[in-house]
Amino acid sequence: MSDRSGIFAGDNPFAIARSWLAEATEAEINDPNAIALATVDGDGLPNVRMVLLKDILEDGFVFYTNYESVKGQELDLAGKAAFVMHWKSLRRQVRVRGPITRFEGPEADAYFESRSLKSRLGAWASRQSRPLESRNALLAEVARVTASKGTNPPRPPFWGGYHIAPTEIEFWADGAFRLHDRYRWSRETQDDSWFVNRLNP
Ligand SMILES: Cc1cc2nc3c(=O)[nH]c(=O)nc-3n(C[C@H](O)[C@H](O)[C@H](O)COP(=O)(O)O)c2cc1C
Repeated sequence: MSDRSGIFAGDNPFAIARSWLAEATEAEINDPNAIALATVDGDGLPNVRMVLLKDILEDGFVFYTNYESVKGQELDLAGKAAFVMHWKSLRRQVRVRGPITRFEGPEADAYFESRSLKSRLGAWASRQSRPLESRNALLAEVARVTASKGTNPPRPPFWGGYHIAPTEIEFWADGAFRLHDRYRWSRETQDDSWFVNRLNP
């Protein structure tokens, strides 16, 4: 018998994550959807940086980036990733690990289209993570793509989403005297059903 209740209740970890994020959206001063995304390079050296979580689907989490960036290369090479969301206002965290695939196609196109024109042109102009001569060089590239791409630029082929289909999701909430509550949802593969464990803090 599970003693899960309150903020941990429910049979669907994606629904719990959505509900926590909705609470954080009310409580955080900015970027409630910021996640620290961890990757590993070819030598197994970890790397981490913030990105914005853009969707929680029925089967995974989606964020967007430049496929040729360092993270893009590391994600494509390893085929797996992890991230953590932490909300100071709620004193909670959600940890996610699992295989990752590119999320391209119509949904990525639609998300790209929903961004402001300046952001879309910025995506075209930035060779993310590669050396940049100067800020002026970047602004010149923005001017160049503005002239060449017009007012309805398509999604660049080197820019799009990634989808993490978790094999582990852990929900953590602060408790008095460091007796925090932790529940780990795990499954062998994304086709298996979830197994839930309460963990020691
Ligand atoms: C709050 C926050 C949100 C960010 N969101 C994104 C994002 O959604 N996508 C992205 O590519 N970079 C985002 N960045 C920038 C990344 O942290 C990082 O600098 C950039 O993607 C290059 O990382 P890389 O060299 O490891 O590929 C964000 C940074 C911060 C601080």
